[in-house]
Amino acid sequence: MSKVTVTAIKADVGGYVGHGAVHPDLLVFADERVRTAIADGVLFDGRVGSCGDDVNLVLTHERGVDDVEVHRFAWETFVGATDVAKRLHLYGAGQDLLADAFSGNIRGAGPGVAEMEIEERPSEPFVVFAADKTQPGAWNLPLYKIFCDPFNTAGLVIDTKMHDGFALEVHDLRENRCAVFECPEEMYDLLVHIGTTSRFVIKHVFRKSDREEPVAVASTSRLSLIAGRYVGKDDPIMIVRCQSGLPALGEVLEPFSFPHLVAGWMRGSHNGPLMPTAVGDATPARFDGPPRVVAMGFQLAHGRLVGPRDLLGDVSFDRARTLALEAADYMRRMGPFEPGRLSMEEMEYTTMPDVAAKLASRWQPIEPVAGEASPVTR
Ligand code: F6R
Ligand code: MG
Ligand code: MG
Repeated sequence: MSKVTVTAIKADVGGYVGHGAVHPDLLVFADERVRTAIADGVLFDGRVGSCGDDVNLVLTHERGVDDVEVHRFAWETFVGATDVAKRLHLYGAGQDLLADAFSGNIRGAGPGVAEMEIEERPSEPFVVFAADKTQPGAWNLPLYKIFCDPFNTAGLVIDTKMHDGFALEVHDLRENRCAVFECPEEMYDLLVHIGTTSRFVIKHVFRKSDREEPVAVASTSRLSLIAGRYVGKDDPIMIVRCQSGLPALGEVLEPFSFPHLVAGWMRGSHNGPLMPTAVGDATPARFDGPPRVVAMGFQLAHGRLVGPRDLLGDVSFDRARTLALEAADYMRRMGPFEPGRLSMEEMEYTTMPDVAAKLASRWQPIEPVAGEASPVTR
């Protein structure tokens, strides 16, 4: 069979209630669109899901990445779902559709996209992760653990097919440039960058022997950098392939047993634990959170999707949820103080600078006292 493209796209086109969940009517609408696109031959297959207030589409086809027809289909699906949201007066209808009209590619227009063109293996297990109330840098820590950390991924030590490690392509969202790091050799060089999750994000992971076909891909758009204003965090999506010389399914899920702190949560302005949940429990509530992650497991069968299986709802993640709730209690007690609240630099695209601007005239220079060094030079 020729190559198969897996496209995962998500957008917030209206919240129910507030920014907490997706109304079922939006999912019904999107599902009907997917059925029609399959019948019309645009897609092999597709599934509609949600995480928090985001609708996600998992699509398979033979058209390659960045295909105009597939992106147009997704865009028009989100536009139509926005109309449904408007009829119901849902909150923030059309929130993530930043462009006025479709211009050939959905990237940069608002929705988050992760897609890969692959040669389907005899058995092709993969996971689509979706997160709400956070941003693409939230994947850095789990992707690092999955592909670079032998304490997470036993196969890096034990499996001859994985023992050489992987190549990770990092995007610098501020400078619009990218670099590839080969691990384990360049692990420390990689960490110098990906620890800064607001700026450096892992876009692709490749086998070292093949830089064409990714084994993982993540959405990397930062809406505020596109829109130049606060438009919510950029709730990300990613695809990770598993097994047969790649990390096993359980190794791919293992990082989510630790609810690491991510930027987002209330008003996209706070650090909070990324709580793994079943899809039905991905409904941020407390302080618009805590941030959620869900995992949808699929097998491919000649381009058709078998699944999804809801993977993080499993009882083995119960303790991660408890720990996340404890971390949420702890972080909430920080209130508006850093690092509970994000740093000044990260708050640049929120409404906080407007408040500071109103108070600007209050600030008076401090006259240096004779004989005392100025506070700046001391
Ligand atoms: C976070 C998010 C919400 C909103 C908050 C205020 O990404 O979407 O936490 O920022 O509910 O929303 P508005 O300003 O729309 O009332
Ligand atoms: Mg929203
Ligand atoms: Mg969202």
